[in-house]
Amino acid sequence: MDHVTRILGIETSCDETAVAVLEVGEHATCNTQHVTSEMKPLKVSVNLVSSQIPIHQKYGGVVPEVAARSHVPEAVSLITQALQQVPLETIDALAVTRGPGLATALGVGIESARALAAFSGKPLIGVNHLEGHIASAWLNDENRAKWEFPLLVLTVSGGHTELVLVRDWCRYKIVGGTRDDAAGEAFDKSAKLMGMLYPGGPKIAKLAERGNSTAFALPRPMLKDGTFDFSFSGLKTAVRQLWEGLPERPVFDEANPHPLLCDVAASLQAAIVEVLVEKTLAAAKKYKVKGVCLVGGVSANASLRLRLGEGIAQRLPGVAYLPSDRKYVTDNAAMIATAGYWRFLKEDFVDWKRIEVRPEWGLK
Ligand code: KG4
Ligand code: ZN
Repeated sequence: MDHVTRILGIETSCDETAVAVLEVGEHATCNTQHVTSEMKPLKVSVNLVSSQIPIHQKYGGVVPEVAARSHVPEAVSLITQALQQVPLETIDALAVTRGPGLATALGVGIESARALAAFSGKPLIGVNHLEGHIASAWLNDENRAKWEFPLLVLTVSGGHTELVLVRDWCRYKIVGGTRDDAAGEAFDKSAKLMGMLYPGGPKIAKLAERGNSTAFALPRPMLKDGTFDFSFSGLKTAVRQLWEGLPERPVFDEANPHPLLCDVAASLQAAIVEVLVEKTLAAAKKYKVKGVCLVGGVSANASLRLRLGEGIAQRLPGVAYLPSDRKYVTDNAAMIATAGYWRFLKEDFVDWKRIEVRPEWGLK
């Protein structure tokens, strides 16, 4: 029987309210010819994301209470829009981010999902946000065709920098992580210092395109320490010292950026990218993985995408490179629905009366 499974995903862990519907099955049309016969086609039929970035920009970062209050009307509005396109009766399960993230923000998604589950009787799935990021790579048809365990995942976002070994479906082992700032924070905090609004990562990336990455020698923290851990706070301090030591500190002008600012940005980006790439390649080699996924907001960075791909092709022949599509790298609900689908297959459901937020929930 060619049944289509439809999962409604809800994400409110930080500063994006997102709702999506994932369809898996014979009717869900696929775009590429790489899909093998045993692979069921996937389709993201609804993908709504409402960003709070403009709200948080005036505070210079995400304020948890403000985030939570802003999620409330947005979550209701996006769920309503989604269900106008895909009726609730046709949905097989509801997947909601349970953690990690901001407790009050997560609560908004959980309460919305709880109400929907109680009202509809549909199964409810509590999704780990980090498993969601990993699942974002599986949304790509070519990646799915090459998906073979063990896999290594580099998750780089505003809140996380992790190397995760995936031995089988839903079986995770963290082999490395940051000891202080996440990679996204290293971009964002350095950008803020140089007068850029949150989030600074994309702005640094844009400036870096015009800059010289060897203009300033910035440290490569923990590059050769033999672990798969990261530390970015020293890099942030080095950028501050460099910035404060400049004879003149140019004002950030997005339309007409100062060459000095471009050089600092390029040097900073090169340092972050080199550490991320080298540690990932070393871990991939040690654990003899068959593929390397790149996920999370920082994986929108073109230099990181390119360098990791080149590194794998040159130094790890036979290992597949599986970056998630750019449209799914920052927080979204399609990835939550996808991880929800994996859990749906395992019937990993939670009673709507019992689901609660897990702000510190790690991957296991
Ligand atoms: O995954 P995400 O949307 O949120 C978290 O779960 O944290 O990631 C947001 C992070 C921010 O730190 C942002 O500056 C960074 O991703 N980011 C980038 C780029 N685009 C987004 N960092 C570097 N280069 C980019 N092009
Ligand atoms: Zn995220």
